[in-house]
Amino acid sequence: MIRFPPFRHIFQHKLLPEAFTQFSVRLPLIFFYMSNKKVLKELHEAVKFLQKQYKHAPQVGIVLGSGLGKFTEEIEIEKEVAYKDIPHFPVSTVEGHKSKLIFGRLSGKRVVAMAGRFHFYEGYDAQEVVFPIRVMKLLGIETLLLSNAAGSVNPGYKVGDIMIIKDHISFFTPNPLIGKNIEEFGPRFPDMSEPYKRVLIQKAKDIAAKNKFDVKEGVYLAVTGPTFETRAEYKLIHVLGADVVGMSTVQEAIVARHMGLQVFAMSVVTDVGLREEDNIITHEEVLEAAKHAEPKLATIFKELVGAI
Ligand code: HPA
Repeated sequence: MIRFPPFRHIFQHKLLPEAFTQFSVRLPLIFFYMSNKKVLKELHEAVKFLQKQYKHAPQVGIVLGSGLGKFTEEIEIEKEVAYKDIPHFPVSTVEGHKSKLIFGRLSGKRVVAMAGRFHFYEGYDAQEVVFPIRVMKLLGIETLLLSNAAGSVNPGYKVGDIMIIKDHISFFTPNPLIGKNIEEFGPRFPDMSEPYKRVLIQKAKDIAAKNKFDVKEGVYLAVTGPTFETRAEYKLIHVLGADVVGMSTVQEAIVARHMGLQVFAMSVVTDVGLREEDNIITHEEVLEAAKHAEPKLATIFKELVGAI
């Protein structure tokens, strides 16, 4: 009869040669060390390439969500760079996204805008999703403005409303900081008590009041997508304390806070999740609703950049 050694011995590596034991224990550490170095090297290559294309350091980074690309018309464009030309940049695969970095001036500030972002549901890992945010930080931005299309689970919201994100729930998408911490960017355990800068939220509310339009303020919950939620899921998201749900933004906000950027984010409500009647949601409807609400978001972003 074959007798197996006690498991205790296997776990203590008693049966493995010493060198192999040490190697197998160290391998993950070596891998993480190498992967961090690789990420940093790729980031620096992308940044060096972009600095050759555009000589000025942007102060504000802007990410335009689904159906919100028209905002680029507000920017006095000085340079456009297609994602496909930037070393190590992923390429957006979603309809309604333009896939380029836009450099220019807005309200007297130098900005860099992403017309099209990368989503976890496209198959990119969390590190790839946040790659451009890190690039923008290394280019010099101090503030990041994020926007997205989202479904509402707050019974007081309707299609076309815009919502300032005051907080988020990030339990359903992988945290992009998992892995060896990149000390060059920030601490191992970043504080998240104020993911979205309160002074910017107040300024945005003042801008909406001055321009006489309503703006909501609420909690965004991030899901992976790409399916829209079932009725039961929308109900659960409501119970969890969120006002809207979407497939982006949170991973970007997390790395931005990790690197010490001040973050401001807004959702455009493109569909209402909590409804008893037939409630079929399509991407086309989402894009259409975002397009209609875009002018309000544009006013806030434009004036906020001026006030930073
Ligand atoms: N759920 C998730 N993501 C979304 C939605 C939604 O209802 N609408 C727009 N993005």
